[in-house]
Amino acid sequence: MTSFSLRWSVPIVALAAAAALISYDAALAEQRTKQAAPAAPSRLNAAVRDNVERLLAEGIQTFRYDTFGSEDFWGGRVKLHQAIQGEKFGGVGPGLSPKQALEFGLKVDMEAVPKNVATAIKAGKVDLNDPANTLLLLKANAVLGVTGFFNEDGKSLKSVGIQCALCHSTVNNAFMPGIGRRLDGWPNRDLNIGAIVASAPDLRAFAEMLEVDEATVKKVLTSWGPGKFDAELNLDGKAFRPDGKPAATLNPPAFGLAGVNNHTWTGAWGTVTYWNAYVGNLEMHGKGKFYDPRLDNAEKYPVAARTRQGHKDDGEDRITAKLPALHFYQLSLPSPKPPPGTFDAAAAARGEKLFTGKARCAGCHVPPLFTEPGWNLHKADEIGIDDFQAKRSPDESYRTTPLRALWETKQIHKGGFYHDGRFATVKDVVDHYNDHFTLSLTGEEKRDLIEYLKSL
Ligand code: HEC
Ligand code: HEC
Repeated sequence: MTSFSLRWSVPIVALAAAAALISYDAALAEQRTKQAAPAAPSRLNAAVRDNVERLLAEGIQTFRYDTFGSEDFWGGRVKLHQAIQGEKFGGVGPGLSPKQALEFGLKVDMEAVPKNVATAIKAGKVDLNDPANTLLLLKANAVLGVTGFFNEDGKSLKSVGIQCALCHSTVNNAFMPGIGRRLDGWPNRDLNIGAIVASAPDLRAFAEMLEVDEATVKKVLTSWGPGKFDAELNLDGKAFRPDGKPAATLNPPAFGLAGVNNHTWTGAWGTVTYWNAYVGNLEMHGKGKFYDPRLDNAEKYPVAARTRQGHKDDGEDRITAKLPALHFYQLSLPSPKPPPGTFDAAAAARGEKLFTGKARCAGCHVPPLFTEPGWNLHKADEIGIDDFQAKRSPDESYRTTPLRALWETKQIHKGGFYHDGRFATVKDVVDHYNDHFTLSLTGEEKRDLIEYLKSL
């Protein structure tokens, strides 16, 4: 840039007549330089930069802390807070101790735990069997995805609301198992959301919606198990698959989604922002507006059609204005890359050739997105599995999962692979494709392919 201006400064001054022409050339040259240079944040137009910063700040806030007014449902109707605080604080039952909360897979943000409490926990001086200490953590806003609303006494709960972070965040266990720094976008594969909801004293809201009794609601909720949730039960009322297994799916990662067209495990619901509006309104029971006339199809979505979920309007809207920043934040979340030593690089290099060649994986998992650019959906028979879950979605297909962080099986991929975790390991997935596509991969080739998958 310096030599460029020096070179032009003399003629510009000397040849005034040609000034217009020269400055035009100079502008063009400068534009070329700008295009060639990486778009460093300092080069962004100030309005764009401000917008990016605002979207990120608002998005992180919404993802982590916004209940969208869902406390009117989880506290007001379901009275979940009464089960959390127990009789001693005016609720019901024994209450939820921190130990049980951690066993249910709830996670604690160590940065929000007050210093003196953290020191006392380390010293073994906090009774993890006492529900009063769960309330203490809620008061500190330290429980991921759950916000407690306290009575004026500051001790007992008036209500609770939930956040996206409940199912789509976990912690790095830096303090102790279940307590650590937040990992936004990592699915919580320990969270037994069904068992938590089933512990609430009043399940009539679900019973009425599904037109079943409360015992049936309990049976369904407790069938899900850790890491799973059923995001279509409220539409079609299908709680169990034909084989008798629960219809719930795994909580997916909410990172590595930029560039991916269709979202969720199954097809054609819409983009990330469609799904955020869907979940905020219909699953979290936040206050807002939601529109989807496809849900009026009474044959496919009898529950949604009867309860008009495709035309939700709570009067008050605490969701719509937050969608842009929430969308932006999720698309900003990167897939965690494999730490050194998690895979064999030489084998992975051979595996990459198989992925794009003999094993035919890249036909659908197109690098570097690892899903199809464009229409990334397939019918069940194409991938050789049953169509139960696919059929519950508008396009009746499965979405090609963008392959991410396959090296990490303790948190991100805990609970297995595919929408319902039917394959316990990546090896089982590869064996399945080997049979289904008759790939004739040798043992050595399978090993190389798996090392490549672990490198993603
Ligand atoms: C109770 C647990 C739970 C909560 C709370 C929740 N989700 Fe999800 N989320 C899921 C499950 C389960 C799926 C998969 C649904 C399916 O495929 O049918 C999902 C799917 C998604 C996806 C699609 C990911 C992909 O691979 O394409 C995104 C994005 C997402 N959720 C974001 C959010 C946001 C943002 C919020 C808050 C507004 C939220 N979720 C709240 C459980 C949850
Ligand atoms: C015809 C398209 C297609 C081809 C070819 C294909 N896949 Fe898939 N893949 C899918 C779909 C669709 C899913 C989602 C299935 C589900 O969730 O039930 C998937 C899921 C996966 C998953 C699970 C990811 C997760 O997070 O649970 C892995 C791993 C995977 N594929 C690896 C491969 C490998 C390795 C190959 C090559 C041997 C391959 N795929 C070939 C479409 C394909």
